[in-house]
Amino acid sequence: MCGIIGFTGQTEAKNVLLEGLEALEYRGYDSAGIACFNNDVIDTIKTTGKVSSLRKKVVAMPEFHSTCGIGHTRWATHGGVSDTNSHPHTFGKVTLIHNGIIENYHELETKLAAEGKFPVSQTDTEIAVMLIDYLYHGNPMETLKKAMDYLEGTYAFCILFKDRPGVIYCLRNGSPLVACHCEEGSVIASDMVALIKYSKEYFVLPEQHIAVLTKDQITVFDAKDKVVMPKMLYVNWDMSAAMKGGYPHFMLKEIYEQPEALRSTIMPRIAKGNLPDLTNDGLPHTILDSVNRIIITACGTAMHAGLIGRVMFERLLRIPVTVEIASEFRYQKPIIDSNTLVITISQSGETADTLAALRLAKSGHAKTLSIVNVKGSSIARESDYVMYTHAGPEIAVASTKAYTAQLSCLYLLAFDFALEKGRLSEEDCSKEMEGLLQIIPAIEKTLTFHPLAKEISRNIKDCEDLFFIGRGLDYALSCEGSIKLKEISYIHSEAYAAGELKHGTLSLVTEGTPVIAVATQSSVYSKMISNIREVRARGAMVILITNGNNTVDSSLYDYHVPLPYLSDNFAPFTAAVVLQMLAYYTSVQRGLDVDQPRNLAKSVTVE
Ligand code: F6R
Repeated sequence: MCGIIGFTGQTEAKNVLLEGLEALEYRGYDSAGIACFNNDVIDTIKTTGKVSSLRKKVVAMPEFHSTCGIGHTRWATHGGVSDTNSHPHTFGKVTLIHNGIIENYHELETKLAAEGKFPVSQTDTEIAVMLIDYLYHGNPMETLKKAMDYLEGTYAFCILFKDRPGVIYCLRNGSPLVACHCEEGSVIASDMVALIKYSKEYFVLPEQHIAVLTKDQITVFDAKDKVVMPKMLYVNWDMSAAMKGGYPHFMLKEIYEQPEALRSTIMPRIAKGNLPDLTNDGLPHTILDSVNRIIITACGTAMHAGLIGRVMFERLLRIPVTVEIASEFRYQKPIIDSNTLVITISQSGETADTLAALRLAKSGHAKTLSIVNVKGSSIARESDYVMYTHAGPEIAVASTKAYTAQLSCLYLLAFDFALEKGRLSEEDCSKEMEGLLQIIPAIEKTLTFHPLAKEISRNIKDCEDLFFIGRGLDYALSCEGSIKLKEISYIHSEAYAAGELKHGTLSLVTEGTPVIAVATQSSVYSKMISNIREVRARGAMVILITNGNNTVDSSLYDYHVPLPYLSDNFAPFTAAVVLQMLAYYTSVQRGLDVDQPRNLAKSVTVE
């Protein structure tokens, strides 16, 4: 949430900043701005709207030249969407950009008011810039260390001091910052996607550390002023992975990247005899020793992956598993101890509630394991064990390839744990792994259903409400189908356990109400058919998704999507792809901004 970038070097800063902000725009798109040194003056250009609006403003000022500056793309938290509330913010000698939330801003504002200092915006960020200016007497390092004592909440700051031209000071607590030094100079940003053009090698600025960027180098200091050498990381993807590559939207590209994302996530984890091998993930064989319960915690789509994971774990391990919404879990005083394994799932690895849930689990002495896409992210670093999804960068706000990659990790864990615990024989485990591998060609086949998905979308695009129904794994998947449709098409939808409809919700189903019935599970198939009859009898428009081309009474549905046949456990993968395509084409038909839906942003670093 909010994307930030800083650059100081040999080339035109505005180009680096604008390109960086375009890459970071998925983190927020309410407003954008840059501030650059112009000798000993700092010029700021900012505007509501997207980075494209900012670019227009910058292009209209050809005299705007600099080799050092900072840039921000905002997801509004404190204060509405307005030019005044946009970043960068300046007070006195200090100009800064911020990602995070200053929780004690009101208290600080009162203190500053007593000194006769008043903000002009409604943002928490302006209070931070006022505080830093108030503390500044010519020594940036001293000032920032003091500021850390006053500030509560989360922050990643890039700061320009008017009397330090060419230098950017950066500070981090909670919100991410990654940096690299390259031929062009020094670059720092919220996410590697903004740095990849310059380097594949980078480092994560450690928490409560200060980075000082000059054109020649980046120096990192800890809270005691000691210079530290952060660990260098390397990304194995390149610029093209962070670009649309001919697709009209990132979301469509990412839907199509799923076979590759799954191949990269699964293949390195297969050992001889077609058995799971998680040794490179550093997972000890003893991880489940003494574990008598598993808690999966995450937010949104990642939490929905957990719902599927629970079914698989309980089926195979016979250990109780609960799935907890991270923002609830952290405030519920959950029962956890050293016999609990807590699995956190996160694409970004920075989601504030998931991170807090992880910290809570650690404080309760649970073993912690995370499934994360972004290398070196906070959740990855703070977990006892981490299993990376190798999905590559996910730019569209709606998660697609990260979700199926998360599922594949959960399946690998379930198979590995079941083998270790003697719940699966080597032979049976190898068969399960074979099933997991079959999802890749099956997804490739499912992607060819796009004309059907488009046609269905044309017929649901004008509805006001829509229901997803399913049982077991299909219900867990329906939850994901529903969030996907809601977030990018703005159509209200609900996911229901099919057997639960008649306990209340069925009253909402009337003539023409679209119902997407996911019926891939053979054990409950006949029950599902009965539930479909119930909605059909009330006039529902039924879109039926089955596993393989089952013979179904054609009077039961308006559309039938027969997925390539997979054994029941694996059908969520192909069904997920269909639900993603339905959401995607519905959003396109409604003429909406698919990749950057209103009010949302990727990587939710606020609570
Ligand atoms: C929905 C979506 C969100 C994220 C959620 C968690 O398409 O992407 O619901 O899944 O915000 O994000 P991560 O996985 O980064 O923790």
